[in-house]
Amino acid sequence: MMSNLRYYHIVTFGCQMNKADSERMAGILEDMGFEWSDDPDQANLILYNTCTIRDNAEQKVYSYLGKQAKRKHKDPNLLLAVAGCVAQQEGEKILRRIPELDLVMGPQHVNCLGDLLEQVLKGNQVVATEPIHIIEDITKPRRTSKITAWVNIIYGCNERCSYCVVPNVRGIEQSRTPEDICSEIKLLEQQGYKEITLLGQNIDAYGRDLPGTTETGRHQHTFTDLLYKVHEVSNIKRIRFATSHPRYFTERLIRACYELPKICEHFHIPFQSGDNDILKEMKRGYTHQRYRQLVNTIRSYMPNASITADAIVGFPGETEQQFQNTLQLVEDIGFDQLNTAAYSPRPGTPAAKWNEQIDDNTKSDRLQRLNHLVGQKAAQNSQKYLGKIEEILVEQENPKENNQVMGRTRKNRLTFFQGNINSLRGQLVNVKITESRPFSLTGEISN
Ligand code: SAH
Ligand code: SF4
Ligand code: F3S
Repeated sequence: MMSNLRYYHIVTFGCQMNKADSERMAGILEDMGFEWSDDPDQANLILYNTCTIRDNAEQKVYSYLGKQAKRKHKDPNLLLAVAGCVAQQEGEKILRRIPELDLVMGPQHVNCLGDLLEQVLKGNQVVATEPIHIIEDITKPRRTSKITAWVNIIYGCNERCSYCVVPNVRGIEQSRTPEDICSEIKLLEQQGYKEITLLGQNIDAYGRDLPGTTETGRHQHTFTDLLYKVHEVSNIKRIRFATSHPRYFTERLIRACYELPKICEHFHIPFQSGDNDILKEMKRGYTHQRYRQLVNTIRSYMPNASITADAIVGFPGETEQQFQNTLQLVEDIGFDQLNTAAYSPRPGTPAAKWNEQIDDNTKSDRLQRLNHLVGQKAAQNSQKYLGKIEEILVEQENPKENNQVMGRTRKNRLTFFQGNINSLRGQLVNVKITESRPFSLTGEISN
């Protein structure tokens, strides 16, 4: 490596996938001898790991990039890289907009960052966005947390939801083998990790692309099979997973979650809309009745399971009545948390070209009404914790009050209580809940 290149800084936008990718890229850079700098203006290499799920996510990226591109005019040795979903979507086009870039790389190329940078250091401007078979990563990610870790199990998405760019930018489904996943988890256990979250855009698709079927014709490596394996392979205390697709969530999977004690009773199952016609236009492949039935089945096994989801308002053609159906679903299910978004037309997706686009005022009005209901439901759910004793996995200090620590319940509610982080980090502590807010709790140690 050139000796004047020393510090790197990564800015990450978007979902957990991107966060996990950034940790891997940071690991590769540190293997190459770079050191992390908190201050982007001190860094010799700045990498933006970008998101394009909605237009505002994409615009944010350009405003950040523009600033550093200017800096490069004063400091020509500065290396600028764009990774992630905007890089994949725009490819070479991004160079026309920001010619100062040294490297443009799509999500499938994350594990190749080292080789790509070598080419950059030879003086090339590099664009790596062609689809490839993702090679197994053998480098060590630089993980942000010492307690909880992400483990990718499947990349890409083969669904074609009519609003969504993810299949365009993340490519086709590619599952890692159970062996590779299990050895990563064993390593995490050795490093002292207490919780893992298995990641996939459509985690229920896990294994479909791996060879092998059982005698009954069922695929050998379903996500449920993987959960049984992962459960046995280490002493990691808690296992989570995301994201689930309502269309493929099976009762066999629910039973596994019920039987396996390390699997936390929290399920993130985006429903997107509570209206059957909209669901059909979205190409989601289920009805609201089917979604309700799925939640009922989960609750019949695990009555207190926490259910969270994503929803979109203002999808093309959505009427007030159809929006009301979304409100009704939220009212009836009473989600513990819901990520809501106004529909944003995305390049290369079918719904972006449809006529009946909803105006921005209506979208933001619906978003506000939905968020209001979500807050109410979350507050009601939080109140159920009052007086109860919950097992908290302590992750870090409360950044706002350093005599407090913070962690999560098994159901993923953020919880604060008084204690010393040095003795409590990574511990499972029983905490009696004394205060509730919509999305967090406060309590005290209970013995
Ligand atoms: N794979 C996951 C979600 C991936 S994207 C799933 O199938 O549910 C994360 C969330 O962003 C989606 O659940 C959806 O609610 C939202 N989203 C995706 N495309 C969007 C768009 N064009 N406009 C607004 N929200 C969108
Ligand atoms: Fe997008 Fe649908 Fe795939 Fe989720 S399942 S990533 S919403 S296409
Ligand atoms: Fe965004 Fe890409 Fe994730 S578009 S939400 S970072 S898969």
